[in-house]
Amino acid sequence: MLIRTKKEIPASEVTDRSLFRRRRQLIKASALGALASFGLSFPELARADAGSKLPGFGKDSPYSINEEPTDFEDVTRYNNFYEFGTGKSDPAENAKGFKTRPWTLAIEGEVEKPGVLDIDQLISGQNLEERIYRLRCVEAWSMVVPWVGFSLGGFLKQFNPTSKAKFVEFTTLFDPGQMPGQQISVLEWPYVEGLRIDEAMHPLTILAVGLYGEVLPNQNGAPLRLVVPWKYGFKSIKSIVRIRLTEDMPHTSWNLSAPDEYGFYANVNPEVPHPRWSQKRERVIGGGLFSLKRDTELFNGYAEQVAHLYQGMDLNRNF
Ligand code: MTE
Repeated sequence: MLIRTKKEIPASEVTDRSLFRRRRQLIKASALGALASFGLSFPELARADAGSKLPGFGKDSPYSINEEPTDFEDVTRYNNFYEFGTGKSDPAENAKGFKTRPWTLAIEGEVEKPGVLDIDQLISGQNLEERIYRLRCVEAWSMVVPWVGFSLGGFLKQFNPTSKAKFVEFTTLFDPGQMPGQQISVLEWPYVEGLRIDEAMHPLTILAVGLYGEVLPNQNGAPLRLVVPWKYGFKSIKSIVRIRLTEDMPHTSWNLSAPDEYGFYANVNPEVPHPRWSQKRERVIGGGLFSLKRDTELFNGYAEQVAHLYQGMDLNRNF
């Protein structure tokens, strides 16, 4: 994965968080007024518009970490989403007009009940919950994000996986007209990712539809993205259009692009360095002067919950 520092946003350019959010609320309030006069209701807006408040959701997940989330501005302006450019500030800029409605998600492969679901019907049928997770990027930085989402495992069970379902493959939308990065062969498109079925079914694994209590911003993977908190961030594929259950291990974009550098498992592991840099420590995005780096934890701090999944495996080989 490329490390690009050129386009990082200097702290001086980042608007004060409370000011930023107050401004957004004002914009939203006037937008709501305008919509009311066109006869559109709040729920319709909430389904369609990034930045709208999500309806009620549970906030006390036992899986959340007890840490202050990274500022909203950093979470939404320091991104990796190569479909919209390889610089950290490119996605926020280039995904502004990205259309996430209408949107469907196909569930295929080793399931008894395959289907194609409309995203709004899908979301309204879920028990949404906030999960505060640290996103540890393979580039050795991290941030803490208050995601809003639902359990992938519970969702997949509704489609009755067959006994042959050993893996799950995820695919991002392919639309080079809307996603300018797909016109450049920096990766093979569309972006694909995969999990073993037990990883997909683990209660920590979620599909996210929001963050900070709001509909997911486009640059963070609207309308639906995966979040697997014990793995490097690149496993958390964005803007998913297809989930396929498979018997064989699926390809993954970064593994296809550089197999020596990015494995299928991609578990956060300070003891297994990337061939070009150490994974022992991580830079804290938005961290103050005295907390710029922290020690990286095995499985990103979730060893107790997930280490058993890899018992007997050599994690140096299965990186
Ligand atoms: N998903 C798609 N479709 N395309 C991408 O380029 N980048 C990955 C992951 N999901 C990526 C993607 C990487 S490298 C990281 S670190 C995370 O998204 C970043 O998520 P964030 O921008 O919401 O912090």
